[in-house]
Amino acid sequence: MPTFHVETPPVSYDVVVERGILDRAAHYVPAKGGKVFVVSTEEVWRHQCARLERGLAAIPHEVLFLPGGEDQKRLAPVERLAEEMVARGGDRSSLVVAFGGGIVTDMAGFLAAIFMRGIPVVQIPTTLLAQVDAAIGGKTGVNLEIGKNLIGSFHQPLAVLIDASVLDTLPDREYRAGLYEILKAGVIRSEPLFRFLAESSAAVLARHPEAVDRIIAESVGIKAEVVSADEREGGLRRILNFGHTFGHALEAETGYTRFLHGEAVAFGMRAAVYLAQMTGHVSAEDAVDILEAIRLYGPIPPLAGISADRLLARLVSDKKTIQGKVHFVLPERIGEVKVVSGIGGDLALSAIQAALA
Ligand SMILES: NC(=O)c1ccc[n+]([C@@H]2O[C@H](COP(=O)([O-])OP(=O)(O)OC[C@H]3O[C@@H](n4cnc5c(N)ncnc54)[C@H](O)[C@@H]3O)[C@@H](O)[C@H]2O)c1
Ligand SMILES: [Zn+2]
Repeated sequence: MPTFHVETPPVSYDVVVERGILDRAAHYVPAKGGKVFVVSTEEVWRHQCARLERGLAAIPHEVLFLPGGEDQKRLAPVERLAEEMVARGGDRSSLVVAFGGGIVTDMAGFLAAIFMRGIPVVQIPTTLLAQVDAAIGGKTGVNLEIGKNLIGSFHQPLAVLIDASVLDTLPDREYRAGLYEILKAGVIRSEPLFRFLAESSAAVLARHPEAVDRIIAESVGIKAEVVSADEREGGLRRILNFGHTFGHALEAETGYTRFLHGEAVAFGMRAAVYLAQMTGHVSAEDAVDILEAIRLYGPIPPLAGISADRLLARLVSDKKTIQGKVHFVLPERIGEVKVVSGIGGDLALSAIQAALA
């Protein structure tokens, strides 16, 4: 299985994709470091602690728990854990091992970014979404009342260990939510990945190991490449937001409770495809193919009762607006997208209505 390399101006690191890598986790924790804090949630720990404990057996470590859930992705639990780390002898030589889904990778990564002004973090993602997206690229943070991920920091990990075998216990809905981010990777950067997902949905949904390993490796490769080219999202990295402009609006409008992140991205990709079609960016044929692939991995929860006007209003307040302008990532053909601004509100509204219908 492959190892990918992320190279950013401050640091470079390996993203190892390998079944069984958890058994060798200790190899990625520097021997002369200080205290090692594994940060997880009780739920993830219950399902997967045996594997990680085996891998870290040679290294003294303590396990700390964050609460799970998007509504708990806030500053207060990060502060509580920092207090606990100090109480347990943590200092500037400590290290965090983040072990969980995207909420843990974002929060534990942020904890590491700000604890004693920054200590290293090893990311070990346990959801499909975190494996192909959240754990790679160094974006860490928590939500504010008013919106998602509004405080945070770039903090690149020491290494990212991706072991597909931890997905054995992942609920089906969470698995499918992660598949949407992989589909996103195909649409923005890889026609072969997209076609594989479109043609092999039965194997992918049944979690055949060869299929799962292949799509994880390909999307990790894409994320590593994009982040290496543009750590801070000045240019290329913005393509990763395909489906996210509309998706974030849907998540916010429904209080982060009705849709999983990946499901909201699926809705957002549909809206973006409709918008691309209305503005003449994508052919009808490619649009149909993308919409069909999204459908194959669904359904997402019902959209009944959601107001298109309110979603449009949310778009404008998204932090991704730059000087008040909403930037949309629109497909031009499968494997290629373009960042477009200056699209009128009426067109965006029509795209939202089409995606809600
Ligand atoms: N930093 C980034 O670049 C980035 C990118 C994408 C998403 N994110 C963030 O990721 C978060 C969503 O992450 P998520 O979808 O992984 O959600 P999550 O972290 O809430 O995990 C989903 C659920 O799966 C459970 N779980 C995790 N691993 C498991 C396993 N192996 N077996 C059984 N259950 C398991 C968790 O306990 C949780 O209930 C959002 O907050 C989003 O903002 C960040
Ligand atoms: Zn995402």
